[in-house]
Amino acid sequence: MCGIVGYIGKFNALEAVIEGLKKLEYRGYDSAGVAYKKENDIKICKEKGRVIDLEKCIMDIDSSLAIGHTRWATHGEPNQRNAHPHSSMTGRFVIVHNGIVENYQKLKFEYLNDYSFSSETDTEIIADLIEYFSNTLSVEESIRKTMSLIEGSYACLIIDKKHPNHIYCMKDKSPLLVGKGKDGISFSSDITGLIDYAEEYMPLEDKTFGIIDAEDVYLQDMIGLPIENRFQKMAIQKEEIDKQTFDHFMLKEIYEQPMMIRNLIHHYFSGEEVRISPKLIHHIRQSDKINFVACGSSMYASYFAKYYFEKLCGIPCEVFCASELVYSTPLISKRPFFIFFSQSGETADLLAVMKKVKKQKHPILTITNTIESSMVRLSDYHLNIYAGKEIAVASTKAYTAMLVTSTILARAVSKTKTNLKNNLKAVSLAMEKVLENKEVCRGIAQSIINQEDLFYIGRGIDYWTALEASLKLKEIAYIHTEAFSSGELKHGPIALITKNTPVIAIITQEGTNRITRSNLAETESRGAKTYVIASKSLSTPSDDVIIPNVAHYLSPLVSVLVVQLIAYYAAVFKQNDVDKPKNLAKSVTVE
Ligand code: AGP
Repeated sequence: MCGIVGYIGKFNALEAVIEGLKKLEYRGYDSAGVAYKKENDIKICKEKGRVIDLEKCIMDIDSSLAIGHTRWATHGEPNQRNAHPHSSMTGRFVIVHNGIVENYQKLKFEYLNDYSFSSETDTEIIADLIEYFSNTLSVEESIRKTMSLIEGSYACLIIDKKHPNHIYCMKDKSPLLVGKGKDGISFSSDITGLIDYAEEYMPLEDKTFGIIDAEDVYLQDMIGLPIENRFQKMAIQKEEIDKQTFDHFMLKEIYEQPMMIRNLIHHYFSGEEVRISPKLIHHIRQSDKINFVACGSSMYASYFAKYYFEKLCGIPCEVFCASELVYSTPLISKRPFFIFFSQSGETADLLAVMKKVKKQKHPILTITNTIESSMVRLSDYHLNIYAGKEIAVASTKAYTAMLVTSTILARAVSKTKTNLKNNLKAVSLAMEKVLENKEVCRGIAQSIINQEDLFYIGRGIDYWTALEASLKLKEIAYIHTEAFSSGELKHGPIALITKNTPVIAIITQEGTNRITRSNLAETESRGAKTYVIASKSLSTPSDDVIIPNVAHYLSPLVSVLVVQLIAYYAAVFKQNDVDKPKNLAKSVTVE
């Protein structure tokens, strides 16, 4: 979603901000803009479209202070007028904002009757409110007063033309990190935007206000009391955000999966024993129910976690979709344990649920790829999935890393010994074999690109892979795809089958092999063009993709690579923007 960056210091701030915006491009956006100091004045340049278009209008300009923004439209269409930065009515305050001011109409009505507006955004009123209060209060007080009135979420960088040697910031619910380097201070919505300019970083807590000059960061709470700076060493390498020789980040990330499994083994095993905090293990063992909370691919990953925990540990589990859970009140058991899955650790729906769960004092574990995230800071426990930075909007390696981390955790919580470490090593080798056979997936992709609808089917754990497969194809190939439990076809969806509708079956479980094949045959009799992805031991010569055998409960880690590759190649054939699909954002920071 929206990304904000800022820089103040000895380097050319515009260069730093443009580089930062480029690093945040993966989050998804439709317009971009910058504000910068030029001879004691503040200039603004903004464009609908890509950061590269913006670059042209600020070429060869030097500045010591700049803020920048990539906007993912929420209020008002994506155009130049609605792009950030926005200015207050007189132009004194200039602001970039990530988040949503939910009560902006009310605030406009109460305070800004004499103001005229030049955009349709909720952001503009933040600049106007600060200006309105600055008639009677200091800048600091005006910003803090504005913070106290906003309902919703915000991470903002603000410049005051009367004090052009400072950047002010305010933050609640939307992420904001401050970086410190030898030559200046930088800001970013996530850690990638700080690479190259910061040696240390500090994620800001909710309801923080800050005044920043080229030397230091002065943070305060809502009533103006100082907050201590807690910088940590930067924990990300530049190579992690480099495409290397791959055409797209998504393909690179698909290819990183075998190595990632080996890394996870390295991080979580000591000999045959799992290395996870005994306190966490004990806490989960004490619970009478585990509640998994997630969205999108992470939610599909948590279906597997439920399966592993119920099978291995005998603890009842339930999977909740965060965006539903936040507006419902399910019955909670006596000793619940909550596990949140999130690649980014910043998903707004999850944070909203987490705050409710925390209020009720239930224990929380976050399983994430982003240890500097807001969710980690709110949780009692966290586990890193060690997938490395995932740049492509469509999740691949983070999804598989969640499956692996949850099976390792379930193994640690259960008292039964399994040969998990060797089984995971076998998965990593099996994944490499799938990648060697990528041409088969490419062939399937080519044969489906002109189809309007496609169906993935499977049963049990293969059905969950089908859900993820369908999401991938929708996200990047823009093909309407549904996943059905193959047994459900006859209860309705089979009516959708017409001549040549592609139906792809995923078959990795012995118990459901025969029945899924007969359900597939039923679609074929009604004209479907069918494909089978099957584990070797269950395969027939006419199957389309045969994947190596691995422990049956880990086979989804292998079959999912096939569907990731099909989606990837379908998107490439359709010449879509694979890494930045339309309308989507990597980190969904608004509800
Ligand atoms: C996956 O391909 C998607 N981009 C999306 O469904 C994602 O998994 C979802 O938005 C949850 O994100 P999170 O893991 O960062 O919380």
